[in-house]
Amino acid sequence: MNSRPKSMIAGTGSAVPEKVLTNADLEKIVETSDEWIRERTGIERRHILEDGLTNSDLAARAAEQALKKAGLTPDQIECLIVATITPDMGFPSTACAVQSKLEAFNAAAFDISAACSGFLYGLIMGDSFIASGLYKNVLVIGSEVLSRMTDWEDRATCVLFGDGAGAAVLVPSGDNRGLLSAYMKSDGRLGYLLNCPGGGVTYPASHETVDQRLHFIKMEGREVYKHAVRTMVDAAVHSLELAGLTAKDIDLLITHQANKRIIHAVVQRLKLPDEKVFINIEEYGNTSAASIPIAMNQAIEEGRLKEGQLCLMVAFGGGFTWASSLVRI
Ligand code: UT7
Repeated sequence: MNSRPKSMIAGTGSAVPEKVLTNADLEKIVETSDEWIRERTGIERRHILEDGLTNSDLAARAAEQALKKAGLTPDQIECLIVATITPDMGFPSTACAVQSKLEAFNAAAFDISAACSGFLYGLIMGDSFIASGLYKNVLVIGSEVLSRMTDWEDRATCVLFGDGAGAAVLVPSGDNRGLLSAYMKSDGRLGYLLNCPGGGVTYPASHETVDQRLHFIKMEGREVYKHAVRTMVDAAVHSLELAGLTAKDIDLLITHQANKRIIHAVVQRLKLPDEKVFINIEEYGNTSAASIPIAMNQAIEEGRLKEGQLCLMVAFGGGFTWASSLVRI
């Protein structure tokens, strides 16, 4: 990648539902314990979207905040990307629903499906659009309502996920702020380890597919764990190499928040001190494509990430997909 960034993040935002589900609440639903969930995942709470609201409601709230901070109005957005695996419906896209809610009528709007890596895929796509000269102002949102795709009878998965949305506005960079590297990879051979088989055209909705609980997330946790550590380290190292920098140069690492133990394993391999790592999984659980933009927005709001600092973002998810980007904030 060229050393001079083509796009930069002009504003971020996030939205999480008010309703909270604690580990103690989960003890009443499945055979689990607060101790097991904390020790194995680091999660203490997750937020659950209220009935009657949907993915695009959360996404629009996060986007409004990001637009405000970027000093842009919705009609100035030329491209609106929503990364999600829990869309409002099969089609049209959640991005089109968000466009309508925001009244961002000058934008081309579409969804991308790259699971937990979706936000970084979207960010890199937005950066490429700006670099090519196609668009100036791009809105990238990661938004998920995983609670509605969760099997609340499966203790191996239902303790992990939460709902939320995060957004970032990308604009052309006039100086050294912005995306310094971009790395995206996939391995479709491993899709069976983490998926939601029902509801597509392989298993269209029927009484049988519902009885077989095919519309819920399925995961081989232990296998996914191993790949998550390996691929996130791979992604982190590649982004640093592309930018000609080392782990010592970065100010903050934000990884996808899937499991505190996975994050610690990645951090250990990168030899980073704890103060350079952002973790908020205890509050939100795994919010898939929303986890990185929620964390980035929180890090900026809390002053952990300031203008001019270097942030390495790294994600891993179903597909499998993995990605990273080094950004000067
Ligand atoms: O966001 C996309 C990427 N996703 C991930 O990266 C997730 C990756 N995987 C993980 O984070 C971990 O594998 C989990 C948190 C899902 C599971 O942790 P683990 O240490 O790998 O546990 P395990 O699946 O090996 O299960 C250990 C034991 C089992 O019992 P036995 O067979 O040892 O008797 C499970 O049945 O823990 C049991 N178990 C539970 N016990 C209490 C599984 N889930 C629960 C639970 N409460 N909720």
